[in-house]
Amino acid sequence: MKIAMASDHGGFFLKEQLRQYVESKGHQVIDLGCCSPDRADYPDYGIACGEAVAKGEADRGIVVCGTGIGISIAANKVKGVRCALCTDPVMARLCREHNNANVLSLGERIIGVELAKGIVDAFLSTEAEGGRHVERVAKITAYDEAR
Ligand code: RB5
Repeated sequence: MKIAMASDHGGFFLKEQLRQYVESKGHQVIDLGCCSPDRADYPDYGIACGEAVAKGEADRGIVVCGTGIGISIAANKVKGVRCALCTDPVMARLCREHNNANVLSLGERIIGVELAKGIVDAFLSTEAEGGRHVERVAKITAYDEAR
């Protein structure tokens, strides 16, 4: 898959480690920055990653900031983005199965690297379950489209 990745300065080091990890799993990474630990505002990067996914330039996105909160809020402002902030692999599996989440958000100041890798594995390897969840996700899409 093509995976768009982005972080602010608070998520820079985790994003760098996860970029290498995701590439080692055979995915193509589109790295949208930031490119150093210097100040970088999370809205710019969350929106850039969300837009890459919404436009179909990437199959899924991964965003990282200090908590994962700010950058997930920003990504979720992009029409068509369903960004899920996850702190464990169960949440990552369920956000794919139930919510068909297309962007994953992580907090560098909240979780360690190995846990983050497990979350990424679950997010990238799980398909949406369909069935009863389809109509619920469709209601979110309908609201999005009507804005
Ligand atoms: C940056 O200091 C920090 O506020 C940001 O990375 C994030 O945690 C915001 O939600």
